[in-house]
Amino acid sequence: MVETVWTKKKDNEGVEVHLIDQRVLPSREVFVVCRTHQEMADAIRDMVVRGAPAIGISAAFGIALGAQELESIVDPKSFLSEMEKMERVIAATRPTAVNLFWALARMKKIWAEIADEAPRYRTDALFLEAQAIKEDDIERNRKIGSFGQTLLPESATVLTHCNAGALATGGYGTALGVIRGAVEAGKKIKVYADETRPYLQGARLTAYELSEDNIPVTLITDSMAAMVMAQGKINAVIVGADRIAANGDTANKIGTYGLAVLAKEHGIPFYVAAPFSTIDPATPTGRSIPIEERSSREVTHSGEVQIAPDGISVYNPAFDVTPARYITAIITEKGVFSPEDLSHHLGQESLPNT
Ligand code: MRU
Repeated sequence: MVETVWTKKKDNEGVEVHLIDQRVLPSREVFVVCRTHQEMADAIRDMVVRGAPAIGISAAFGIALGAQELESIVDPKSFLSEMEKMERVIAATRPTAVNLFWALARMKKIWAEIADEAPRYRTDALFLEAQAIKEDDIERNRKIGSFGQTLLPESATVLTHCNAGALATGGYGTALGVIRGAVEAGKKIKVYADETRPYLQGARLTAYELSEDNIPVTLITDSMAAMVMAQGKINAVIVGADRIAANGDTANKIGTYGLAVLAKEHGIPFYVAAPFSTIDPATPTGRSIPIEERSSREVTHSGEVQIAPDGISVYNPAFDVTPARYITAIITEKGVFSPEDLSHHLGQESLPNT
């Protein structure tokens, strides 16, 4: 299975964080090395690394790199104020995936506790915490996989959107984790992967990741989803999430909402697979989820080739929100919940759908 984020210790130069460059997969396997928090922030913003859990893990390593940059600072107050500046730089990279803010909060708890310690101790403690976040994520994904696979019949064809696989997480994946869990349980699973316009995470990353693991995958363009559902080819839709509001409304890659509506129309179960680090109890409904808008160039160009007129007006929201009423179940590391049960689990009253 491909690895997304890992560290390398360099004699006398400290720790580097390595990322597989997801912008150029599958045609090239290139690696980007981050030595500072700013380099990690740039890598997240520029989509070297993407996918909600992987963004959170990378942000955590970015904070550890930041502490490493501060090893000449002994004074705890100055350390704390510099760490907060770095936190703001990393927090400003991508607004929708709540795992980013979740991971930063987890790192902050540690750096606030150890500000009085020796500089090298602070760095080591923060790298350890970032590594723990990564390993914890893989563990959660494996549980998501084993709970989720029980929802699939012995032989099933699953439609997925974007990439919610090993590349989008610490490893194993969420939506693709359920598929991997079913394959490991001996089920016969085929996958249809939406290409996922405009950034093509489905074509470039999901198709690549599943082919590498010899899981049968058929690539379709997004506009073909209705047709394959109507033809009876799909038994379940499984997607990941960037942020799940307290009422179960779910932000995920643009196009997810349309798939959920189509699934309901065709009587096909629509599952969201995500760890609790993607659930945001502070966001009551999908209406308050911030939606990232990305460059018009992603829509007007295919690679280097311009495919739309010069100066055309473009709207490019990177995510949409699927109202909870279209979601059959949310598959988490703590079990499978209906959106209403998840709301109750969070200790909140079920709020009206958007
Ligand atoms: O813009 P991206 O590639 O970061 O968007 C990724 C998605 O929408 C994924 O489906 C989501 O983050 C879940 S990844 C386990």
